[in-house]
Amino acid sequence: MAARIIDGKKIAAAAREEIRARAAKLTEETGIVPGLAVIIVGEDPASKVYVRNKKKACEEAGFYSVVEEMPESTAQSELLEKIAEFRRDERIHGILVQLPLPKGIDEQAVIAAIPPEKDVDAFHPENVGHIMIGDYRFLPCTPAGVMKMLETEGIDVAGKDCVVIGRSNIVGKPMAMLLMHANGTVTVCHRQTRCLSDITRRADILVSSVGKAGFVTADMVKPGAVVIDVGMNRNAEGKLCGDVDFDAVSEVASAITPVPGGVGVMTITMLLENTLRAAEAAAGR
Ligand code: GUN
Repeated sequence: MAARIIDGKKIAAAAREEIRARAAKLTEETGIVPGLAVIIVGEDPASKVYVRNKKKACEEAGFYSVVEEMPESTAQSELLEKIAEFRRDERIHGILVQLPLPKGIDEQAVIAAIPPEKDVDAFHPENVGHIMIGDYRFLPCTPAGVMKMLETEGIDVAGKDCVVIGRSNIVGKPMAMLLMHANGTVTVCHRQTRCLSDITRRADILVSSVGKAGFVTADMVKPGAVVIDVGMNRNAEGKLCGDVDFDAVSEVASAITPVPGGVGVMTITMLLENTLRAAEAAAGR
């Protein structure tokens, strides 16, 4: 039986339309246009594509956006100064520094320099703390995108065995937290997990954020499971693909997200949602 394909593009389009309408209302009533500043340091090709997509999404939602491209040789102090400029800029409600940063720049120091009320990635320790206690100022973009997909598809997390592969600060850890808050029973697997497939085969909901094409094979998936692919990789032919062996796993799972057209578009949608929330907060709403 072929799995139902969870169409991220369709879910994102509906959510973005709502965001666009809310932003237009905010602008009409207060004169405030939600504004996002994206800083990219260096020449990483994948990061450049992500940043271009973020800018395009802002334009389509009626937001103001600025992309600051800084050279690979940028000193940490220069990057911190740029963040300080955007911190003072009233047109900017969200500041995002694209990761990864070049070697020699302390990622945590950079994240800590973003004021929590403009931290639309929700990476600042204060916002991470909010996520931990389930009282969100901002949603962690990728995990929140996954939760929105599950909700839209009518997939209830409560009581389910949820397995997350990957324990990054960006995806794995906040993903586990959101699934836990939705009353899932959550296991987080990583590089040193033993007998990985024994654990993944227990999952009703399996989320993979490993970063390796073809990592999740059909024998790792329980028949009827929901499989969410957060991976963004290139295969041997240079084609964009996720972590999951899509064709084979589709024969085992009940529902699956594709790459592209799955989680990636949802991540940017949640970034728009956070930027709009920051602008609404700046307007005293
Ligand atoms: N690099 C990969 N994903 C992300 C993300 O969600 N935010 C930022 N700032 N950098 C990233």
